[in-house]
Amino acid sequence: MYGWQGSEALQLVTDGTLEIEGRLLDASNVTLYCTVRLNGISAPAVYKPVRGERPLWDFPEGTLAGREVASYLLACSAELSTIPPTVLRDGPLGAGMVQLWVDTSEAELVDVLGPDEVPPGWRTVLHAYDRGGSPVVVAHSDHPRVRDMAVLDAVLNNADRKGRHVVQGTDGEVYGLDHGICLHAEPKLRTVLWGWAGEDLPADAVEKLRKLLADLDGTLGEQLAAHLTAAEVEAVRSRASALIAEGAFPVPVDNARAVPWPLF
Ligand SMILES: Nc1ncnc2c1ncn2[C@@H]1O[C@H](COP(=O)(O)OP(=O)(O)O)[C@@H](O)[C@H]1O
Ligand SMILES: [Mg+2]
Repeated sequence: MYGWQGSEALQLVTDGTLEIEGRLLDASNVTLYCTVRLNGISAPAVYKPVRGERPLWDFPEGTLAGREVASYLLACSAELSTIPPTVLRDGPLGAGMVQLWVDTSEAELVDVLGPDEVPPGWRTVLHAYDRGGSPVVVAHSDHPRVRDMAVLDAVLNNADRKGRHVVQGTDGEVYGLDHGICLHAEPKLRTVLWGWAGEDLPADAVEKLRKLLADLDGTLGEQLAAHLTAAEVEAVRSRASALIAEGAFPVPVDNARAVPWPLF
């Protein structure tokens, strides 16, 4: 076995041979389920070829694949949050992003529940009615790694954090998935993880943000520049600095859609 975040896992996705097994039908782009093999080790992976990307009017710059890789690099910096190892490389359908597949456990971290079913500690973010007219809530876990993901999303300016992209692996780790529409220079945060809105950032999150700022002045800044515009890299710095200065989780802004659609 190898650790998901270990250098062996990164080498596997970078240098392994990709074999396409099938296409994921719930994806918005051409998203392929693959097996990646290297030196007798194999693992499932997702491969999203750049040429399969649906053009988006609100994300005209760069590629979604590049944004996924930049998001992974940012998440790794200061261990802000966990995204499966993700690289930009060549594949059977040309250049694309390759990311290790996470075997997910049954445990839900974001859920639609009856108002009386919310587990202790969970954060309620929305109240609604189901088809039958009964009240329901959308709530999420207060797991410290989900909290870290909320901080990461604020830095990434994640425009599409859906409930099903916050998963718990069978290894117990919390993983974020699908970071194609992140890192725009203009504010676009749309997430289901509003449970800590306006609350003080924990001290360890502030430490991680400081480390991220330091990394941005070094290798991380150079790595991001390969995938993002200069204005977008600068915006990462501004968002991280603003979070440290505010010392609090962001709150939804007026006149902007604060949640993704669909929510899951
Ligand atoms: N690394 C991964 N591990 C496990 N499941 C994944 C992974 N990446 C994607 N998926 C699953 O595949 C679905 C489609 O992938 P997604 O990233 O949403 O594609 P797209 O960018 O085309 O929208 C996700 O909703 C998720 O269920
Ligand atoms: Mg998607």
